[in-house]
Amino acid sequence: MEYQQLLIAFCFYSLFVHQSQLTYARKHLCTRDEAFYLLQLKQGLTVDKNAYYYGCDSEAEAKTLSWNATRDCCEWGGVTCNGLTGHVIGLDLSCSFLIGTINANNSLTKLGHLQRLNLALNVFNDFPLGNSISELSSLTHLNLSDSGIFNERKMIPPGLCKLSKLISLDLSGSYIQVGRTTFTSLLHNLTNLEVLLFDDVYASFELPKKFPSSLRKLSLQGTNMFGNITDSQLFRLPNLQVLGLGDNPSLTGTLPNFHWNFSKSVLELDFSYTGIFGKVPDSIGILRSLWRLNLFNCHLSGSIPESFGNLTTIRELILSGNNFTGNILSTISKLNKLVNLHLSSNHFRGSIPESIGNLTAIRELILSDNSFTGNVPSSIGKLNKLDSLSLSSNNFEGSIPDIFANFSELNSLDFHSNNFVGPFPYSIATLTHLDGLELQNNSLTGPLPSNISGFQNLFNLDLSFNYLTGATPPWLFQLPSLMSLSVQANKFTGELPNELNMSSSVPFIDISYNNLHGEIPYWMLFMSIDSLDLSHNFLTGFEKQVWHSEYLSYLNLENNLLQGPLHQSICDLINLAFLILAQNNFNGSIPDCLGNSNRLISILDLRMNNFHGEIPTFLSTGLQYLGLYGNQLRGQVPRSLVNCTSLVALDLGNNKFNDTFPIWLEKLPNLQVLILKSNLFHGPIGDLESEFPFPELRIFDLSFNGFTGTLSSNLFKSFRGMMDVDEGKAGISRSWNGTRRDYFYHVSLVIKGNEFDMRITSIMTSVDLSSNRFEGDIPISVGNLRSLVLLNLSHNSFRGHIPAEFTKLQQLEALDLSWNRLIGEIPGQLSSLTFLEVLNLSYNHLAGRIPIGKQFNTFPNDSYCGNPDLCGFPLSKECGNRNEHDDDDDSYFMSGFTWEAVAIGYGCGMIFGLLIGGLMFLLQKPKWYVKFAEDIAQQIAAKKRKRQKKRRQKRGLSMN
Ligand SMILES: *[C@@H]1O[C@H](CO)[C@@H](O)[C@H](O)[C@H]1NC(C)=O
Ligand SMILES: *[C@@H]1O[C@H](CO)[C@@H](O)[C@H](O)[C@H]1NC(C)=O
Ligand SMILES: *[C@@H]1O[C@H](CO)[C@@H](O)[C@H](O)[C@H]1NC(C)=O
Ligand SMILES: *[C@@H]1O[C@H](CO)[C@@H](O)[C@H](O)[C@H]1NC(C)=O
Repeated sequence: MEYQQLLIAFCFYSLFVHQSQLTYARKHLCTRDEAFYLLQLKQGLTVDKNAYYYGCDSEAEAKTLSWNATRDCCEWGGVTCNGLTGHVIGLDLSCSFLIGTINANNSLTKLGHLQRLNLALNVFNDFPLGNSISELSSLTHLNLSDSGIFNERKMIPPGLCKLSKLISLDLSGSYIQVGRTTFTSLLHNLTNLEVLLFDDVYASFELPKKFPSSLRKLSLQGTNMFGNITDSQLFRLPNLQVLGLGDNPSLTGTLPNFHWNFSKSVLELDFSYTGIFGKVPDSIGILRSLWRLNLFNCHLSGSIPESFGNLTTIRELILSGNNFTGNILSTISKLNKLVNLHLSSNHFRGSIPESIGNLTAIRELILSDNSFTGNVPSSIGKLNKLDSLSLSSNNFEGSIPDIFANFSELNSLDFHSNNFVGPFPYSIATLTHLDGLELQNNSLTGPLPSNISGFQNLFNLDLSFNYLTGATPPWLFQLPSLMSLSVQANKFTGELPNELNMSSSVPFIDISYNNLHGEIPYWMLFMSIDSLDLSHNFLTGFEKQVWHSEYLSYLNLENNLLQGPLHQSICDLINLAFLILAQNNFNGSIPDCLGNSNRLISILDLRMNNFHGEIPTFLSTGLQYLGLYGNQLRGQVPRSLVNCTSLVALDLGNNKFNDTFPIWLEKLPNLQVLILKSNLFHGPIGDLESEFPFPELRIFDLSFNGFTGTLSSNLFKSFRGMMDVDEGKAGISRSWNGTRRDYFYHVSLVIKGNEFDMRITSIMTSVDLSSNRFEGDIPISVGNLRSLVLLNLSHNSFRGHIPAEFTKLQQLEALDLSWNRLIGEIPGQLSSLTFLEVLNLSYNHLAGRIPIGKQFNTFPNDSYCGNPDLCGFPLSKECGNRNEHDDDDDSYFMSGFTWEAVAIGYGCGMIFGLLIGGLMFLLQKPKWYVKFAEDIAQQIAAKKRKRQKKRRQKRGLSMN
């Protein structure tokens, strides 16, 4: 039917053409059959505006729309005819929103005179024409790039190898693959081939040995080819201008010695993301015409040869992500055509020479993450075309020169993590295009300017970790494009601005660790903030305030001077997931709404306040951390907590809870931390019921309560979390590029005798049952807790022997069994606990010889005092044959004191205190939070992409 319609249309066409031939006597009309074939081609394909590619003009009209019988087909969009014969010789249907299949017997095969065929940037279901592509035997140019979204990678048909006239073949970015045989025969048969672009075509075989010597452009980026490039014939091709081998991690070898023959023509070399290693050869300097060199993320090392200074035409030089060393900047400063210079993530040294001012064309100067030193020369001020300037993560020093007034195109300025001192350079605040400003982690001093004229486009402002002083000026909070404001850890003083001219909506604000006073301003409660951190300041006034920000999901007011009861409006913050109010003076009761099951609340940290009353019924299954340490809370532990199956840490320490052991918590599958210390808990622990009780528990602290009874022999039998700590599961902090915060909750732990309030950042396991009234034997099942680091059973009434099973606790660093009623000898096997740093066995009824060797040589005598029947090193009391006159230095020093006096005077009152570094695990970030952070990260990434695209366009222009 369609075919009939086509025929009818075609008859009209013929009629029209004949008439117009008569009327205008035009010379160059396409032949009837070719017009028919074209219409047939059009008929078989669908035009769909959704088949729109990045880079195509989405507003443009589909080219085939102009194809109709009333016009000479040589005037149709995308069609080119031979001026004499009228044959269709060119067909350009790129970006035509075409969808469909072009079959092997499609009429397109009949366009036998076709020389140029461009079907790029459409969506075909298979390789157009399949093997019949061979019938287009006149083809010189074939472009099928970005023209396939197939379900499976289709093979490139071997028929392609018969197109021996091909000069240019571009299949980049189509979802296809090529076999080794087809590719080799392509290279062998297409003897005129000048351009071969196969980027992202899957070609998982060894880089071929032979290439046609006619090649000018060869790009095999991201093909998966492997092999050694060092001796490749590619580097002898006399006409090669562009060589792209990047994105093939399995290509290895060293860079070759470049030959004179090769050097005359070559313009672009891309080896990024390959496995090439070794040094850059001296001969690189003979590549006189080189325009672009990309060595990003290879394994190259050594210093850059002096001959680099001969690459005087180079515009884009990317050496980032290698192990290059040496001083490079004075050589580079000769290359005054440079537009993009990326040296980041290497080990380059030296300072920036004044001569850097020669690079007057430069747009991207990226020196971050190296070992550069010295001051920033003021000649940088001449580089006023700069778009991105990054000096971050180096050892630059001195003040940042105030030279930015003319940098009207600057988008990104990144000086973070250096040793810069002096004031905030005022001229930066005049920049209108800036979208990222990162000066964090320096030693900048003085106030911020009180008024600014730039920053209209500023997206990310990070001034954190400096010594900036003075007030926080109002403009900080009313930058129209700002997404993220980080000024934490400075010395800002005074009050937050009282009033703003416009209501801003900076979604992420961190002003923590400053010296701000006064009340939290009214406007802040209305802003559409997602994340607000005002912690560690001297702010007041929260109690009166009504919060309105419906977006607020992270609120951290820790360590301020806030007081009074929580305003009921806290219940209106329906998206709140992190609420951190620790270390203030809040009182009153905890609002019931915080426990509601429809809440997103995930982190509730109210430690060190004066909350009193009972705690609400918590039903939220998303609750991960409940920190109530150090309040006046009383009553029982609400049984509803058994519903909070995500709970990772429950810290009820230092309150007035009066309850028996909440044994029902044994069922919580994720509970890692249970702290009940210093309350009025009482009674026996009871019998565990689950097969795997407390499966993830790592920190178990019941100290300073009134627990009684014996410990059941299977109490420790199956605390799997303390048996084999799975580091992956514990979620050790991974570097996460989302830029937002990780929440490291605090727990208060007695570590080796000292109490620490610590942030849990890495693996840590601890059992503290001290200062209760437990009795009976120490269960030998303690020996199962193979990953245990701290064990404190002191100040109880344990009897019996020290179990020899303790020797299985190979990770143990501190063991305190003091003030019990233990008897017998100290098991000699304990000397195998090689990490044991602190041992306290004092005030028991232990007897006999203290074991010797290994760790036991390191413990002081106060580890043993109060056990009158112990003897041997380090005590002065000898075992067996006591010899009063055997005076070594120690006993000489101690002569005149009784043993007890020494022990009490020097030993037992002493606090052991060795803080072990970086403890513990990180909470899994809840899904919504990751989402929020990703949103911001994505917006930043989108901005960057836009910028890159702009750059690419500019580059394209300058290249042509
Ligand atoms: C050739 O075209 C017909 C219809 O025109 C179609 O049914 C057939 O599948 C095609 N053959 C091939 C090999 O694509
Ligand atoms: C740099 O050298 C170090 C040490 O030899 C090596 O571990 C690292 O992988 C190297 N980096 C690169 C990018 O080659
Ligand atoms: C290239 O640079 C080196 C070292 O700077 C120099 O000695 C040599 O003459 C230069 N070669 C050419 C061909 O310019
Ligand atoms: C704890 O609660 C019990 C009753 O539930 C009561 O008898 C006891 O006095 C309470 N203890 C304290 C110290 O308040």
